[in-house]
Amino acid sequence: MEAFYYDNQTLYCEGVKLADIAGQFDTPAYVYSQAQIAQNFDMLDRAFGDIPHLICFSLKANSNLSIGRIAAGLGAGADIVSGGELFKALKMGIDPQRIVYASVGKLPAEIEYALKAHILMFNVESRAELETINHVAGNVGLRAPIALRINPNIDPKTHPYITTGMTKYKFGIPVEEALQLYSYVQDLPNVEAKGIQMHIGSQLVAVHPIVEAATKVVELTLQLKRDGIDLQYVNIGGGLGIRYEDENPEGPETLAEHIVPLVRETGCTLVMEPGRFIVGNAGALLTRVIYTKRNPAKKFVIVDAAMNDLIRPSLYDAYHPILSVAEVNELEKVDVVGPICESGDFFAHDRELAKFEAGDLMLIQCAGAYGFSMSSNYNSRLRAAEVLVSGDACRLVRRREGYEDLVRGEEL
Ligand code: LLP
Repeated sequence: MEAFYYDNQTLYCEGVKLADIAGQFDTPAYVYSQAQIAQNFDMLDRAFGDIPHLICFSLKANSNLSIGRIAAGLGAGADIVSGGELFKALKMGIDPQRIVYASVGKLPAEIEYALKAHILMFNVESRAELETINHVAGNVGLRAPIALRINPNIDPKTHPYITTGMTKYKFGIPVEEALQLYSYVQDLPNVEAKGIQMHIGSQLVAVHPIVEAATKVVELTLQLKRDGIDLQYVNIGGGLGIRYEDENPEGPETLAEHIVPLVRETGCTLVMEPGRFIVGNAGALLTRVIYTKRNPAKKFVIVDAAMNDLIRPSLYDAYHPILSVAEVNELEKVDVVGPICESGDFFAHDRELAKFEAGDLMLIQCAGAYGFSMSSNYNSRLRAAEVLVSGDACRLVRRREGYEDLVRGEEL
């Protein structure tokens, strides 16, 4: 199934015309397909069906309450990184016993909140954090379930900003220190070792770096077992890539082929933390052309969305496919840009696209992950509306901001 498709020169999301969505909710708007989210989740779930597993949807990719509720309804847990994400996960109805909490900088107040919510476990990233968790847990009379996040020092071959599992980056604990730190956990009265975790990077198109890293993590797990430390969970993180341009990402089946036998050996439940794979291709940014202009060098198509709505092109030079909502045959090479006051505000450079005129609608695809969740109010722009499509129906799942939202909290 393709959630966004042309029929009779008209672009649809599931059974709803994108032009009707623009008419009803205005632009810019994020549009999501519920069926695509379900399909992506099922694909992953089925691939790992042979072993006990838990899919914790990574809320940083998309933390809209309605999207999270869909994930919860499919049986997902959540991968969170802040007190705010815990708050949202609980509102989504995600079972706390399916929530895992990563982040190199968890605050004592956030740790206390998570302890009192009885989450499944903390993914611990340093000795100092481990000691703080032990201390906070002691104060509130609870025992903290933890996993150590291992930094396996493996290059996942992706953009450096989203590479994590190498020792030049801030994440996790080096393999060489892990055994010692697990043994230290045994000495701490208020923490309990329940699992082991890794996450080496995002948008990985080949699975072998994940497998190589998981092999190290599984070796550690087996060594710990021999040392009398019996873990229950092996967490391989997220990272599965999707197709934005011409990538051919290896999917969940290929990953499962390698990971299932490895993890089976440990007797542990497998945990995964996918974000992009679940929602990336299930969402798109619908925007309208305001003006076109030409200078001696180029033609520019100026749209009503901007880098504050979708920062991935500006931040990572990321490619997002762009479609015209009405299928047009005539092509021309243009830059697609937003109204923000910097040259980094672009969606495409020198791209051969359908010929756009002022007033035309455009769809920026594969924006369901790290799209709205990374949006901001830069230039005092109002954050976009979010719309969820299911079959022939669509509904607003986040209202467009108004000017009053811009001053909320500032008029003291
Ligand atoms: N688990 C942990 C600990 C993570 O740090 C991340 C993402 C995930 C899971 C989910 O990874 P995914 O399955 O989505 O690859 N803003 C960037 C991506 C940042 C990813 C950060 N960590 C982008 O727009 O490409």
